[in-house]
Amino acid sequence: MVQRPRRLRGSYLMRSMVRETRVSADSLIYPMFVTEGEDVKEEIRSMPGQFRYSIDRMDEMLQELGAAGVSAVMLFGIPAHKDEAGSGAYDENGIVQRALRHAKKNHPGMLFVADLCMCEYTSHGHCGIISGEEVDNDATLPYLQKIAVSQAQAGADVIAPSDMMDGRVAAIRAALDEAGFSHIPIMAYSAKFASSFYGPFRDAADSAPGFGDRKSYQMDFHNGREAEKEILLDVEEGADIVMVKPAMSYGDLIRAAKEITHVPVAAYSVSGEYAMVKAAAAAGFIDEEKIMCEMAVAAYRAGADIYITYFAKELAVCMREGKIG
Ligand code: PBG
Repeated sequence: MVQRPRRLRGSYLMRSMVRETRVSADSLIYPMFVTEGEDVKEEIRSMPGQFRYSIDRMDEMLQELGAAGVSAVMLFGIPAHKDEAGSGAYDENGIVQRALRHAKKNHPGMLFVADLCMCEYTSHGHCGIISGEEVDNDATLPYLQKIAVSQAQAGADVIAPSDMMDGRVAAIRAALDEAGFSHIPIMAYSAKFASSFYGPFRDAADSAPGFGDRKSYQMDFHNGREAEKEILLDVEEGADIVMVKPAMSYGDLIRAAKEITHVPVAAYSVSGEYAMVKAAAAAGFIDEEKIMCEMAVAAYRAGADIYITYFAKELAVCMREGKIG
C-alpha cells in the first residue's frame, strides 16, 4: 500500500502540524443586545447565557470579552419606542447611538460594529418602509443612509447593513462618504437568507414581522448561484467585507464567497444555531464545547475570515487553550 493517510494522524503533534485550518480569536465578533433602562441584565429565554444589557451594564460583559481575547462586538439596539419609519434607528440619542458612545469611550481598544437594520425599530417589524403590504425598496434607502451616518457619528467602527434592500451598499457608501466617513468600512450581509434559524433572535430583539414574512427581501435558501450574485453585487457597490448568514448550513456559500471575491468573508453563526447547541447540551445529548469548536472550525475551513458568534467568549478561551487548534 502506497497511500496511508493515517500516517499523518498518528499523534496529537503530527495532527497539529498538518492542520489545514488554524484559528485565532482576532477573527471573532460577539453580537450583543442593548436595551433601554438601567441596571438591566435580562436573560433571553431561547438563548440561555445570552442577555439584553442596559448601557450601564454593558461594561462588565465587554470587560469579560476583552479578557477572553475577543476585541470586536456587534451591537443590536432594542428601543423602547417603535414607529412606522423606525425613527429610533437614526435618532442621535437612540439606543445604539448612546451605546456606541458609551462603549467607545470606556473600551477604546475594542472594535464596534453597528448592525444596520430597521426591524428592531419599526412597529410592523419589517426591515424597511412599508407601502401597502410591500416593503418599498427605494423608499427605504434614504432611511438606511440616515441610520448609517448616525451610527458613524456615534463612533461605529464598521457599518453592517442587514436589511437586504437592493442597492443599499452603494447608497450607504455614498452617504458615509458625503458625511466625512469615507474611512468607515461596510460589512454587508450579502447572502442573508430568509431563515428559520433566526427565530431566537427575533425573541431577543422583539423584531418578528407583524404581518407576512421576510421572503420578499431575504434570500430563498434553495439558491446558491443567486447568493453569489448578491455577493458580487455588494462588492461592486463597495462592500469592504461580505457576509454569509446563517453559517452552519451554508458552508457551500462561505466557500463560494471566498473563491469569487477578494474581500474578507464573514460567517454569522446565528441565534438558532446557538439555541440548538444549548438545548441539546442541556438535555445531555451532545458535548457543548466540542460541538461549538467543531462548528467554528467548519466555518473557517469553508473559508470564513471572520466568525460572528454568540459563543465568541467561550471560543476565544478554547482557542487560547489550544482546544480548537
Ligand atoms: C436584523 C437582523 C436579524 C439577525 C441579524 N440582524 C434578524 C432577521 O433578519 O430577522 C439575525 C441574527 C440571529 O439570528 O442571530 N435584520
